[in-house]
Amino acid sequence: METAVIHSGYDAKEHLGSLATPIFQTSTFTFESAEQGERRFAGEEDGFIYSRLGNPTVKALEERIAELEGAEAGLAFGSGMAAVSAILMALTKSGDHILCSQGVYGCTFGLLQLMEEKYQITHDFCSMETEEQLETLIRPETACIYVETPINPTMKLIDLELVAKIAKKHGIPVVVDNTFSSPYLQQPLKAGCDIVLHSATKYIGGHGDVIAGLAAGKKELIHTIAMTTLKDVGGVMSPFDAWLLLRGMKTLPVRMDRHCENAEYIVEQLKQHPAVQQVFYPGDATGGDYEIMQKQMKKGGGLISFEINGSKQHAQQLLNRLSLIKIAVSLGDAETLIQHPATMTHSGVPEQKRVQMGISDKLIRLSVGLEAKQDIWEDLQQALDQLMEVKTPIQSKQA
Ligand SMILES: Cc1ncc(COP(=O)(O)O)c(C=O)c1O
Repeated sequence: METAVIHSGYDAKEHLGSLATPIFQTSTFTFESAEQGERRFAGEEDGFIYSRLGNPTVKALEERIAELEGAEAGLAFGSGMAAVSAILMALTKSGDHILCSQGVYGCTFGLLQLMEEKYQITHDFCSMETEEQLETLIRPETACIYVETPINPTMKLIDLELVAKIAKKHGIPVVVDNTFSSPYLQQPLKAGCDIVLHSATKYIGGHGDVIAGLAAGKKELIHTIAMTTLKDVGGVMSPFDAWLLLRGMKTLPVRMDRHCENAEYIVEQLKQHPAVQQVFYPGDATGGDYEIMQKQMKKGGGLISFEINGSKQHAQQLLNRLSLIKIAVSLGDAETLIQHPATMTHSGVPEQKRVQMGISDKLIRLSVGLEAKQDIWEDLQQALDQLMEVKTPIQSKQA
C-alpha cells in the first residue's frame, strides 16, 4: 500500500521522465485520420478521444485507486455525490428497490428521496446486524445494497462479510461508501462487496482543496458505469483535480496513521470529560462494534462523534468557543474540523428519520487533523470546560 500510493498507475518513462504525473489539460485529442477516429469510437483501437470519455491524468488516478482497493478497474468523478448518483442510477431502473445501511450521508439520503419521487425507485434502511434483518427486507425487486461503514456521522459499523454473503445468495451487488476509512484502513472488495466508492474530497485528497469522487470494482461493471451514467450524465473529474489527488494520495498511509493516533488520544480524553455523555469511535475497545472493526479495519480512523450533556444550544456554544479547531463540514483534512450534523450535514434529513439514524441534537462530529494532539485537546477541553462551567484539571501532556 505504501508503495502503491506513490507508484501505481504511472510510468515516468512514458512521459519524458517527468517524476510528477503531467496534467493533460485538454478537452479533446486529435486523430491522425478520419479512419482512426472511427476505430476509436468503435472501440477497435485504444486511445483517447475526448476528456469526458477519458484523460491520461485521470486514467493514472483511476488505475491507482483500483490497485489500492484490490479492484480490476477504477473510475473518477467530479464529486463524491457524482460517484454515488452514477453508481445507483447505473444499477437501478424504475420500480426497483435499494436496501441501505441505517444511516447515510445527508445528500445520499436526498438522492434516495429524489429517486423515489421521480423514478419510483424505493429504499429501506436496515441496521444489518443479523442475517434475519437483511433477509426480511430484501425483495425480488431489490437491485442493490448500499452501505456506509463507518456510518456518517454516528460511526456505527456494518459487517461487510455478513452483508456480502447474504447479497451473493440473492445475486444482488453491494456498494460500499468507503469515504471514512480510505483504502488504507478498509478494503470492502476483499470482504466480497462489488463496488467501492469514495468522496475523494476527504482523506484521499487530504488537503481540503478539491471536490472529487472515485470508485472501483469489476472491469465490466465499471465499464458500464463509465459508458452510461458517467459519460452521458457527465459528472467527470477535471485533469487538474486528478493531479491534486495523485499528489495527495502519496502521503495517505502516513497521514492516516497520524489521524488515527491523534483520534485515539482525543477519544480517551473525551471519555473522561464530565461534559461528554457518550463517545462513538470504531477503535474504542469498549464500544459495541469493536469486533467488526478488528475484522475489517486496520485502525479506528480519524473521525469521532460524541454527545454532550446538553442541548442543541450547548452544542453550538461548544463549537463557537473553539479557536484552533475550525467549524466546517468535510473531513479528512490536515486541519481538525468540527460540525453539528443535525443542523449541518444531515439537516436535510427529516427529524424523525434523523433520530432513527441516531443523530440527536447533542451529537457533534469531529474530524481529527494532523496537528499536535495536545493542542487539539487543549482547544476542545477549554470549550468543554466552559460549556458545563466545570473546571477540570489540564490533562498531562505526555507524548
Ligand atoms: C460518507 C460520504 N459520502 C459521500 C459524500 C459526498 O462527497 P462530495 O462532497 O465529494 O460530493 C460525503 C460528503 O461529505 C460523505 O461524507
